[in-house]
Amino acid sequence: MNQKPKSNIKLSPSFVSKLELDAVDMALASNELSYYGTYITELETRFRAYFNNKHVVLTNSGTSAIHLALIMAGVEKGDEVLCQSFTFAASAFPITYCGATPVFVGSEKQSWNMCPSTLEQAIENRIKYCKKPKAIVVVHSYGMPCNMESIKQIALKYRIPIIEDAAEALGSKVNKIACGVHGDFGIVSFNTNKIITAASGGLIVCKTEDQKRRIVRLATQAKDETIYYQHSETGYNYKMNNLNAAILNVQFQSLEDRLSRKKNIHNFYSDLFGRFKGISVQKEYSENIRSNFWLNCIVVDNMELKKCLEKQFSEAHVETKSLWNPMHLQPVFAGAQYFGNRYEEELFKKGLCLPSGSNLTDDDLYRIQVAVESAMSTF
Ligand SMILES: Cc1ncc(COP(=O)(O)O)c(C=O)c1O
Repeated sequence: MNQKPKSNIKLSPSFVSKLELDAVDMALASNELSYYGTYITELETRFRAYFNNKHVVLTNSGTSAIHLALIMAGVEKGDEVLCQSFTFAASAFPITYCGATPVFVGSEKQSWNMCPSTLEQAIENRIKYCKKPKAIVVVHSYGMPCNMESIKQIALKYRIPIIEDAAEALGSKVNKIACGVHGDFGIVSFNTNKIITAASGGLIVCKTEDQKRRIVRLATQAKDETIYYQHSETGYNYKMNNLNAAILNVQFQSLEDRLSRKKNIHNFYSDLFGRFKGISVQKEYSENIRSNFWLNCIVVDNMELKKCLEKQFSEAHVETKSLWNPMHLQPVFAGAQYFGNRYEEELFKKGLCLPSGSNLTDDDLYRIQVAVESAMSTF
């Protein structure tokens, strides 16, 4: 007899309740189909409070937020920008939109994110060749905060602005302060696989009212203040719309619940893999940081065991993905400069991301446990 196929357990699926449906109805009924409106204002106010009263501009994606942050940092054609290599390509692509060149920096073992001492070596090297980097794009990959304090000290020493890519890290903290607030500019993504989502969307955190005004101007086609259409510089169509903001206002209110479910899922993986040798789960590495555990990641020392786990997960319809293929290995960035000890290459080879959505049920977790146990018993 044919068995009913099991549903897929996805890495990080979106989910909505009746509250989001009602919010969209109300937003449509309000007739404010624009990049401004009641829901935009409400969401900006919420995030302003969340990000320690810093200024916030809502954008149509995390990628556009990074592009705006780079422009605000003064990045121009011909410049170099230091960028974490172990990340998703969207951290680096906007550097090329500016006509600038990314210079990639490798990861440290502790946080898997940008290595502070390598960052300093890279800065010294580029200064030696009269190419002082214009900005540093640092990432909290998988929601795990980078070594922010050390990176900030180096950036301050050389007076280079930091763009803090917290696309995956809404809810993560360093020294009890939200990720996104620590850099000169911070960005968050609300794309479909993020902890809260409106299918697409993002935001940029900045420090002054003047910066906010300029970001809004750039994000809305850079219109001069004339009574007719006049543009003195290139603008972009990068603002979030009021419908997405209506959804996010509701999703934001469940952020704490989602974070606590994600912490439980992390504990589940820690307990499960703690029973077996040769597999380690990425962990919070210091008392001063909190991860949102956007995705739980494991590193498997033995390649045969990794294959065996992948096979069992695939047969159980459990989605997994390899860790980031570093940017300095990407064909699109062939020939780019790289500073580092290639630790992220090892992570790419040995690592896997596991389902971590805050709507995973206990039954889903049990199915994952059975897949792991059967891989371990057959290996
Ligand atoms: C690290 C990182 N940076 C930037 C982005 C870009 O965000 P978005 O997809 O909203 O453009 C993403 C998300 O995909 C990301 O994971």
